[in-house]
Amino acid sequence: MDRIRISGGNELKGTIPISGAKNAALPLMIASLLTSDTLTLENVPHLADVELLMRILGNHGVDIAVNGRRERQEDGYSRTIHFTCRTIVDTTAPYELVSKMRASFWVIGPLVAREGRARVSLPGGCAIGTRPVDLFLEGLQALGAEIEIDGGYVNVTAPQGGLVGARYVFPKVSVGATHVMMMAATLAKGTTVIENAAREPEIVDLAKCLSAMGAKISGAGTRTITIEGVTSLSGARHRVLPDRIETGTYAMAVAMAGGDVTLEGTDAALLENALDTLRMAGAHITETETGLRVVRNGNGIQAVDITTEPFPGFPTDLQAQFMALMTRSTGVSNITETIFENRFMHVQELARLGAKISLSGQKARVEGVPRLKGAPVMATDLRASVSLVIAGLAAEGETMVSRVYHLDRGFERLEEKLTRCGAVVERVSE
Ligand code: UD1
Repeated sequence: MDRIRISGGNELKGTIPISGAKNAALPLMIASLLTSDTLTLENVPHLADVELLMRILGNHGVDIAVNGRRERQEDGYSRTIHFTCRTIVDTTAPYELVSKMRASFWVIGPLVAREGRARVSLPGGCAIGTRPVDLFLEGLQALGAEIEIDGGYVNVTAPQGGLVGARYVFPKVSVGATHVMMMAATLAKGTTVIENAAREPEIVDLAKCLSAMGAKISGAGTRTITIEGVTSLSGARHRVLPDRIETGTYAMAVAMAGGDVTLEGTDAALLENALDTLRMAGAHITETETGLRVVRNGNGIQAVDITTEPFPGFPTDLQAQFMALMTRSTGVSNITETIFENRFMHVQELARLGAKISLSGQKARVEGVPRLKGAPVMATDLRASVSLVIAGLAAEGETMVSRVYHLDRGFERLEEKLTRCGAVVERVSE
C-alpha cells in the first residue's frame, strides 16, 4: 500500500492548478443515465472515485469514451469524457460496487425515472457516521415511488406511467438527496417543488447541466427548486465547475506552511465563508483573473472559531484541514461539527504530531502549539487524510501518512501539485 512521506518546513511558492470538482463530477456522470444521447463532460478530475463510478455506470449500460486530448495542455490534469447510455441494460447496482462509494447510491434517481424501477445496494463510503438514506427514499416516495428494502438492497418502483411531480419538504438539508430528487423529477409528470433543498454550488452545476439537456429547472442555489417534468432529455456538453474543497485545502496548506501560491482555474465565490475565515486566521487572499492568490509571510496564525454548516456556511469537507491549521495558531480555536456525527477521526492522528486538541461531543477545542513534530500517522477518511498532509508540511522532520488510497479518492495528483510549489512530498510504494 502506498504511503506519503513529507519533510516539513518548506514554504510553498508557485502555482497550483485546481481540478474539476469531484462532488460535481459524480452526480453529473450519473445524469448520463437520464438520456439515450451523449453527455460530454469537460474538466473531469482523474480520481479513484471517478474511475469507480465509470465502472458502475458501465454496468448499467453507459458507454464511456475518454478523449486523449488534454484540457489544459501544459499540465494535463483534467479530461473530457463522453457518456452514452442508449439503453439501460441493468437496473441493479450491486453491493460490491456501491459499498465502495456512497455517491454511487445516487444512480437510484435516474434509474427509476427512466426505467420505472431500480434495485440499488445500501451504500458504503467514508466512515464518517451512519449516513442513512431515509431522505432519498422519502423524496422518491413523494414522487409516487414504492420502496421495499430487502437483503441490503433498496427496490424502488415507479407507479404505472412513471413518477409524478409533487411538493416535498426535506426535514434536513442533504446534498445527495437533493441531487437525486432533482434528477428523478426531470422526467416525472408535472411539477416538483423541492423545499429546504441543498444550495451547494455542485447542485447549481447539476441543474445547469440538466437544463442544457432539456430539463426545466428553476431556483437551484436557493432553498426552493422547481422542476417541470419533460418526457425525455437530450445530450449536452458541460464543463465541471472547479473543486472548492481542493481550493480551500491548498489555501489552508499555504496558510499553514507560509509562502505565496496562485490557485489557478478556481473561483472565490465558491468558498467565500472559508476564505473569510482564512483571512481572519492571517492569510492574505486576493482574487486574480484566473483564480486566487494566497499569501502568508512571517505573521503568525490567529485562532478562529468555526461551525460547519450546509452551504453557504463553512463546509464540513474543510473542517479537518482547518483544524490542522489551528494546531499552530497563537490561541485557542473552537471547532463545531454539525453535519456528520463522527468526523473527528483526524484528532488523534494530529495529536501524534504534537497537537493539543480536546474533544467534547461535536466540539473540538484546539490549543495552538509553537511547533509540530513529524511522526507516522494514518489516514482515516478522505478529508482527514489531507489534513495530516497539511500538518506534515509545517511539522519538523518527517511525517509518513499511510493508507493514502483515501487521498486518491478525492485529490488529483496531490504530491505533484505540492512538490511543484517547493514542498518535499513523495509517494512511497511498497
Ligand atoms: C455530500 C458530499 C460530501 C459532503 C456532504 C456534506 C458528495 C459526493 N459528497 O455528501 O463530500 O461532506 O455532502 O456537505 O457530494 N442524511 C440523512 N439521511 C439521508 C441523507 C443524509 O440523515 O437520507 C444526513 C447525513 O447523515 C448527514 C447530513 O444528512 O448527517 C448531510 O449529508 P448529505 O448532505 O446527504 O451528504 P452527502 O450528499 O452524502
